Amino acid sequence: MNRDILVYGAYGHTGRFVVAELLRRGLTPVLSGRNAAALKELSGRHPGLDVRVAEVGDAQALTAAVRGVAAVVNCAGPFLDTGLALATTAVAAGAHYLDVTAEQPAVRQVYRAQDEHAWRTDVAVVPAMAFYGGLPDLLATAAAGDWDSVDEVVVAIGIDRWWPTEGTRETGRRNTATRLVVEDGRLVPVPETAAVRDWEFPSPLGSRTVIGNPFSEVITLARHLNASAVHTYLATAALDDLRDAGTPAPSAVDETGRSAQRFAIEVVVRRGTAERRASAAGQDIYAVTAPLVAEAVERLLDGRAGIRGAAAPGETFDAGDFLAALSPEHLTLNRWPAP
Ligand SMILES: NC(=O)c1ccc[n+]([C@@H]2O[C@H](COP(=O)([O-])OP(=O)(O)OC[C@H]3O[C@@H](n4cnc5c(N)ncnc54)[C@H](OP(=O)(O)O)[C@@H]3O)[C@@H](O)[C@H]2O)c1
Repeated sequence: MNRDILVYGAYGHTGRFVVAELLRRGLTPVLSGRNAAALKELSGRHPGLDVRVAEVGDAQALTAAVRGVAAVVNCAGPFLDTGLALATTAVAAGAHYLDVTAEQPAVRQVYRAQDEHAWRTDVAVVPAMAFYGGLPDLLATAAAGDWDSVDEVVVAIGIDRWWPTEGTRETGRRNTATRLVVEDGRLVPVPETAAVRDWEFPSPLGSRTVIGNPFSEVITLARHLNASAVHTYLATAALDDLRDAGTPAPSAVDETGRSAQRFAIEVVVRRGTAERRASAAGQDIYAVTAPLVAEAVERLLDGRAGIRGAAAPGETFDAGDFLAALSPEHLTLNRWPAP
């Protein structure tokens, strides 16, 4: 089986976690990105790995970079600048495409390209396979279970601190599109005044104030879950950290490079008066993105995925089985299985 996985943006903060996780799983990362010196430095830490330098705007170089790989994992954000080019190139080469975007318009771009250009459907195209986007999508899918329609999905994201990387900050500057939620079964702009409420997260987070702040999961959920409403809330303290230009980048507190940041995501899915919940907790939103996307890659390679071109994580994978596979090493699943 071809186990070569191109990691684009391999030398970024998230890219490094992804490279390490793929190696741990016996897959073979191919190190890629636009900075030859940074790739050389990274390959010095992982001798023997192939290095392919390519600018996103250079179609020929990108095509050469993806040649022969089984999948592309794009970790280079802002994804509004990289997602579509890499997804298009991967699909053309017959390689699966995954990225870790939290940007709603970047996911929409890729879904739209699938629909408008009728991309081949024998490879998977899974944007947002990450902490934001993929994890709440999988939790909501698992919680919804056998319900074929739901009245409301509420995603609550608790983070005790947010030490943002430069990539996160740059993505925030780049992505100025109005954020979207689902109302009456349609994507609509968020209300001008964001809703604020208190949320009781599983331990160790406990009670936190959260504010309406949707990420890419709204787009992925709108793609496959028949929901009348989808709303996401984020801990206000985390948003304050992000908005403060003085908040430092994450720093490692363990040998795997994780920061001390703790997170919990809880999803409530409602139909009529019935309610189902699922939640997951863990450490470091950047680090946990690596097992999420690497698990997805493994499942695509070994056939444990419903491949149909561009799709949401929850429609590509068996959500409950996927999340269970990451527990307890990477995720603590609370209020689980969903009642
Ligand atoms: N959804 C989630 O939960 C989640 C989780 C983790 C990360 N992310 C997202 O992933 C992205 C990367 O985050 P990070 O923490 O890894 O940031 P980072 O450490 O700053 O790394 C950013 C990487 O992206 C590359 N890059 C940016 N723009 C590029 C372009 N136009 N062409 C080629 N390469 C480009 C950078 O290369 P250069 O150094 O050459 O610019 C670098 O390798 C951000 O958008 C972040 O929001 C999302």
